[in-house]
Amino acid sequence: MSAKTLIAEFAANRSESKLLQIIASENINMQKKAIVPKTDYSKIAECYDRVKSEPGPLLPHIIEYGDIKSNSKVLDIGCGTGRLLTNLLPTECSLFGLEPSQEMLREALSKGSSRGIAWIQGDGQRLPFSNEVFDCVYMASVLHHIEKKELALQEIYRVLKKGGRCVILTHSHSQIRRHVLNDFPGVIAIDLKRFPSVPSIKRSMSEASFKSVHHHVFHRSERTSTCRYLERVRSKYVSTLTLFNEEEFQRRFKVFQERVQRKYGNRIKRIIEFVFVEASK
Ligand SMILES: C[S@@+](CC[C@H](N)C(=O)[O-])C[C@H]1O[C@@H](n2cnc3c(N)ncnc32)[C@H](O)[C@@H]1O
Repeated sequence: MSAKTLIAEFAANRSESKLLQIIASENINMQKKAIVPKTDYSKIAECYDRVKSEPGPLLPHIIEYGDIKSNSKVLDIGCGTGRLLTNLLPTECSLFGLEPSQEMLREALSKGSSRGIAWIQGDGQRLPFSNEVFDCVYMASVLHHIEKKELALQEIYRVLKKGGRCVILTHSHSQIRRHVLNDFPGVIAIDLKRFPSVPSIKRSMSEASFKSVHHHVFHRSERTSTCRYLERVRSKYVSTLTLFNEEEFQRRFKVFQERVQRKYGNRIKRIIEFVFVEASK
């Protein structure tokens, strides 16, 4: 039985089983002719969870906007190391994580809490599921990586049940402009190009036939030592930082370091903003 059939069958009929872990063997080659600059997640998978902000505050919003109930069938597209999905596990939901990077999936599988989740290597532009199987599909910080965004949204629409919910977590252009990394030469220009604006996401969702498309903005303030923040930047905690070659990165990092030390002193206070776009099928 092919991985695709297995996955489709699991999705359609076997929601009671929570012990399946699948890595589909279909070849994923998304580097070819990429217009969206591609982050090589194989290089940052191992340190990903350590350098990212705590995901806990995002979960209640995903649950609320995704209308996730105890018996929901939920798909996380671009699940990465599974840091969101594994925290949804205490519920009785059937959980599916789809991710193109084998290295990120390996991190997900190594988590004690990963059992009972179906992990699938795949591409958000071509979902290996039958029509109308999920109650909720969400994507957190993924849409900007996807080449054919309209296609990915159509695929989400296809695999959602009638009345199912789609939640997209992204960053607004105004937040990108206000970000601390504004002082890292080149970052803002790249991100303004690769992140679709919130109005354009909403428009594409409506065009994909989604109903009741809304967005919500949340802020959280974070105080951190400048030293710790510089460490995270050095670890390339934001994927944009992986797009420079090492020599370029080091040159720009030096400029950034001088700027933030002058601007903030020992402590950086920053406002982290999240935008959730939610809609129904
Ligand atoms: C910033 S990470 C977010 C990971 C996870 N959602 C989280 O919040 O921790 C972006 C993820 O999107 C994945 N990704 C990139 N292109 C993708 C595609 N075409 N389809 C699905 N996922 C993709 C990457 O491999 C990476 O794991």
